[in-house]
Amino acid sequence: MASVHIKTYGCQMNERDSEAVAASLVARGHVLVPNEHGADVVLLNTCSVRDLAEQKALGKMRAVAGHARLHRPSTVLGFLGCMAQSRAEELVSEVPGVRLVLGTQKAHRAGEYIDELLSGRTGVVVDTAEEEGSQSRIDAHLAAGPGGGRDARRAVTAFVSIMQGCNQHCTFCIVPFTRGRERSRSIEEILGEVRELVGRGVREVTLLGQIVTSFGRREIPVRDGRSGFVQLLDALNDVEGLERIRFTSPHPKGYGDDLVEAYGRLPKLVESAHLPLQSGSDRILKAMHRGYTRERFESLVGRLRAVQPGMGITTDIIVGFPGETEADFLETLETCRSVRFDNAFVFKYSVRRDTPAATMAGQVPQEVIEERHRRLLDVINEIGAQRYDALLGKTVSILVEGPSRRNAARMEGRTRCNKIVVFPGAPRHVGTVMDLRVERVGTFTLYGDPAVVGVADEQQLEETNA
Ligand code: SAH
Ligand code: F3S
Repeated sequence: MASVHIKTYGCQMNERDSEAVAASLVARGHVLVPNEHGADVVLLNTCSVRDLAEQKALGKMRAVAGHARLHRPSTVLGFLGCMAQSRAEELVSEVPGVRLVLGTQKAHRAGEYIDELLSGRTGVVVDTAEEEGSQSRIDAHLAAGPGGGRDARRAVTAFVSIMQGCNQHCTFCIVPFTRGRERSRSIEEILGEVRELVGRGVREVTLLGQIVTSFGRREIPVRDGRSGFVQLLDALNDVEGLERIRFTSPHPKGYGDDLVEAYGRLPKLVESAHLPLQSGSDRILKAMHRGYTRERFESLVGRLRAVQPGMGITTDIIVGFPGETEADFLETLETCRSVRFDNAFVFKYSVRRDTPAATMAGQVPQEVIEERHRRLLDVINEIGAQRYDALLGKTVSILVEGPSRRNAARMEGRTRCNKIVVFPGAPRHVGTVMDLRVERVGTFTLYGDPAVVGVADEQQLEETNA
């Protein structure tokens, strides 16, 4: 039995992969520990999307390896995830002491390799090969409960990986190289996993994939005008005991009428969409190979709001893509003003090796990138604050997830539109859906007051808990 620490960088897909690796290690008799101090095995699940994410993981591993060399030379140090996939052997020479490098299609073999390394049968393992059917290997979930190493809120919400890879090849993005080509699981397999999760108390699932709207594009024929992805949503909507369905990340061009209409038709599909815009300039969108124009993006938002007026819409935007002029950037600002996102991740363009954008003319100077980043954030924050303020005094329906991340004495949950609400609740509220009046609005957080939770709501709660 070994003690294992896993640290995760990057997206929810990595979080999900880490959970599955953790579950497989626990099944082999190992224990998870919350930090690297004294751990027999330290695994970093890495992100490659921006250089900063890679540097963070490299810095962390160098520090851990330095300490291990002096105090615990037998520690097994390993990299998983996107940087492991793209840098492979290179990482073993770059960070002395690293003995395991596992690619993105190999996470399910972590247990086996770690046991070999711990026993001394093997010195170093680097495995970044492609593997047929790897999209179906990420389904082990850690049982909730003390010592499970699993966040309590995961008892109520769960990530479910539905597909892997991306064929879109946006010119700035390394993901198609690190995650490979699109491969989807079957609807039956996903349904089975979701039913099992619901049986364990999960009320909300977030479907994960690098481009979920491409789910089943090759494998599942369109039926009654509905894509494979919409067929999956239909099937999940019928799962008894499941309250809410979310997904991330879609591609705007994957929003056909069938998906837009699904928001009006499927009660469990929440009124929330993370729609990556990337840029508001058609010229830049084209150079990015995004496959839509600003006008098409804006009309998609209009179509979604026509079906669900209160829809929460968030986005990703990159500033400083090669060739981006002040005029292009102003178009991005205007698009944000016209769409009025609830929130956005604003990224500074980062050169990724082997991507077409890396060698494009007109690389934007760092100080210009910094300045545009600040200006765009100001607009995003200003509009976001207005959208949150508009909810003051309104009643929102939240799924209670657990203690608040900011204040453990309070509880928190999320609205269907994906806004966090903090309120003075009790552990018995976890897993229930309750209506709260928004009493105060903070920065991208809402505060609800239980004093205004009606008696009827309390009765309802008692019933749900009975
Ligand atoms: N569809 C994927 C996107 C992964 S990358 C998913 O969410 O699973 C997440 C975001 O990082 C992208 O939407 C983009 O805005 C940003 N990003 C990707 N490559 C980048 C780069 N080279 N520089 C800066 N930001 C980047
Ligand atoms: Fe990356 Fe574009 Fe796919 S951002 S993950 S190549 S849709």
